[in-house]
Amino acid sequence: MSQEQPASPVVIKTRKDGPLLVTGSFTLTDHLGNIYDTTNQPNIALCRCGRSRRRPFCDGSHRNTDFRAEELANGGSGDHAGSEPTASP
Ligand code: FES
Repeated sequence: MSQEQPASPVVIKTRKDGPLLVTGSFTLTDHLGNIYDTTNQPNIALCRCGRSRRRPFCDGSHRNTDFRAEELANGGSGDHAGSEPTASP
């Protein structure tokens, strides 16, 4: 009888003007269902600007674009010139 570790919940966090950070126990597949090897990657960054040369992964190319994304979960918009908002408890 094996004792499996409980899977850690998946958390997806938006980065201001950047990728989606995914942490936890997840499987990433392409549109055909082929699995990306994310072995030994406890978290990954998924491109949402469309400019990465390594899609679906972020390669940092968003920094050289005018891509802006600062939406907040509460429907507001972050202060683009300020610091990132803190998470609510
Ligand atoms: S979000 Fe980083 S390259 Fe697209």
